[in-house]
Amino acid sequence: MKNIVITGGAGFIGSHVVRLFVNKYPEYHIINLDKLTYAGNLANLKDVENKPNYEFIRMDICDFENVYKLFQDKHIDGIIHLAAESHVDRSIKDPFTFAQTNVLGTLSLLQAAKLYWESLPKRYENKRFYHISTDEVYGALQITDPLGIESPFTTKASSEHHQAYGHEFFVETSKYNPHSPYSASKASSDHFVRAYHDTYGMPTIVTNCSNNYGPYQFPEKLIPLFINNIRHRKPLPVYGKGENVRDWLYVEDHARAIDVIFHHGHIADTYNIGGFNEWKNIDIIKVLIKTVDRLLGRPEGADLDLITYVTDRPGHDARYAIDSRKLQDELGWEPSLQFEEGIEKTVQWYLHNQEWMDYITSGEYERYYEDMYSKR
Ligand code: NAD
Ligand code: TYD
Repeated sequence: MKNIVITGGAGFIGSHVVRLFVNKYPEYHIINLDKLTYAGNLANLKDVENKPNYEFIRMDICDFENVYKLFQDKHIDGIIHLAAESHVDRSIKDPFTFAQTNVLGTLSLLQAAKLYWESLPKRYENKRFYHISTDEVYGALQITDPLGIESPFTTKASSEHHQAYGHEFFVETSKYNPHSPYSASKASSDHFVRAYHDTYGMPTIVTNCSNNYGPYQFPEKLIPLFINNIRHRKPLPVYGKGENVRDWLYVEDHARAIDVIFHHGHIADTYNIGGFNEWKNIDIIKVLIKTVDRLLGRPEGADLDLITYVTDRPGHDARYAIDSRKLQDELGWEPSLQFEEGIEKTVQWYLHNQEWMDYITSGEYERYYEDMYSKR
């Protein structure tokens, strides 16, 4: 396999996947196909932008004609598809954009890959269409805490206890039951990907991952938003009572999983990816406050009063939790970082990269791309 398109490579997770593939596989030609929406930022890839095996192409995945032409011109062998609208709150305000990008954009990529690969003498041989999805397609689990353990109430070891006590997880066969326009659009795109395998024999793989955290995440998502707000002593808007539970995975561990699955995953299969690392929002927020305050030399807990309870997100899913034992058992992947270590690294990264954050929060980067591309 030689020519690989990674869509959404200028976004949060995509930039980590591009970095990993460009550095680890010099023999591959990695094409980062990204529209550069508000969430796409080439500053995320400064360290690899001049590598000989890396190319950036600004393109909308919905632009079928150009996507198909790119597949033909660049002889694409594989695609790792991350481009999406990814923020639940935006999907509540503007569901059409989510259907457009996440559903029709995915369909456009599938159809371009189909037409190109079916035109080759060996058709789908050694080809891959790998679609990155989310655990949110499964809906929400109940918040159960059968052992009465405070959050963080799931470590790898204790997950077995939780399962023994009926603590429920999403598994690969869990029923799809999306609640937000975001998760509904991702669910729909997952179905299209599987349909292209079942109908045309395309070699597809789908993975559903839990919440990611780490460097380069757009500061509309909980962790980078709150780190930045604590730093600037701005209010921390906690939705509802802050009791919703998410299962957090360090983004580089997700990128490693994508590498393993792209190369060794079974065609037409689904893998769930998660950290066995559940936290109530309010507990994670307290850890963030404590960590930022310590690293900035402020008295411990100085910023607890920034916590501001606000109106809950409509349809706010109570709990997500992934059982990733299939991936661990079949392909040997497991999360490498303990949460404490990951959160420390993450907070340090945002505090040391204030320029990156300011570039985004000032809106300067969007203006820069508009100027750069409007001149072409
Ligand atoms: P992100 O919002 O940070 O980045 C999305 C990227 O896609 C941006 O670079 C953007 O410019 C690009 N993009 C958007 N619309 C496009 C279009 N029409 N054409 C081309 N490019 C376009 O997203 P992320 O958090 O990195 O998520 C990446 C993928 O992983 C998404 O598919 C998301 O559903 C999935 N996922 C995310 C998480 C998470 O916690 N962030 C968890 C599980 C799965
Ligand atoms: P988010 O990072 O948006 O990811 P997702 O909705 O995909 O899980 O939010 C994580 C959790 O934090 C979610 O339960 C909503 C909550 N949240 C807040 O309480 N306040 C906020 O300002 C944000 C952005 C999220």
